[in-house]
Amino acid sequence: MMNKGNPIGIFDSGMGGLTVAHAVKNLLPNEQIIYFGDSAHLPYGDKSAATIQAYSIKICDVLLQHNCKVILIACNSASAAAFELVKAYVGSKAQVMNVIDPVVEYVGEKYSNAKIGLIGTKQTVGSGVYAQKIAARNASITLGALATPLLVPMIEEGFYKNEISEQIINQYLEKPELEDIKALILGCTHYPLIKKQVSDFYANAIEIIDSSVIVAKALQALLAYHNLVSKEKLTKNRFLVSDFTPSFQLAAELFFQEEINLEKHILWE
Ligand code: DGL
Repeated sequence: MMNKGNPIGIFDSGMGGLTVAHAVKNLLPNEQIIYFGDSAHLPYGDKSAATIQAYSIKICDVLLQHNCKVILIACNSASAAAFELVKAYVGSKAQVMNVIDPVVEYVGEKYSNAKIGLIGTKQTVGSGVYAQKIAARNASITLGALATPLLVPMIEEGFYKNEISEQIINQYLEKPELEDIKALILGCTHYPLIKKQVSDFYANAIEIIDSSVIVAKALQALLAYHNLVSKEKLTKNRFLVSDFTPSFQLAAELFFQEEINLEKHILWE
């Protein structure tokens, strides 16, 4: 049952989706968040669609057990590989959102006749989902997409504000795929953390599109449309992870920008 007082379920392959959870918490402080980070199976970005789909369904079961009114797939790789399946699986039990459609909507409205760049994992870029959805929304936009697989491990290690990370970022951004772009989509949960470095590369001359804020706004609109906005917050946010190590705790705080308590919830017994 979808009730106003029920929580928002947010899931990701690990801690990166906490950038989205953080934006949701700031914009919608009355909503209770149940976050699920599949830390036992990360990264998703290098896995096949079938594997990501299997994990995503299992996570949806957990979020549905918590009576989530919305399931937000806060991972670009899972949004690319599993959104349609998750939507069909969840049916009328909850609203389902991904992190790609709100960005496509935003870009489609703002960037007619322009070339836009996209960086993301191999799964996200290889799936071609952004290209298909943007073409369907506004055929005058050209998309230049580049997989940038070194960036996730680099950021997870907190290794993103020094000369070597700057060189890695710059080498990627210099590739021909991203030539002459008018805006760049950060198509991965981790990339908001390097937004400044990316923007510096372009001398702040183009828009760097951070999907977390756009997605939180789309969630706000979805809740209002379905009359599901919570009037008061009664319960604390919860953060479940399928595996726990101290480094996951550190990463969680890096992405959520405040202290949180991770609870272990094993997906497969
Ligand atoms: N959450 C993933 C994404 O947004 C990045 C990390 C991973 O590969 O699992 O694509």
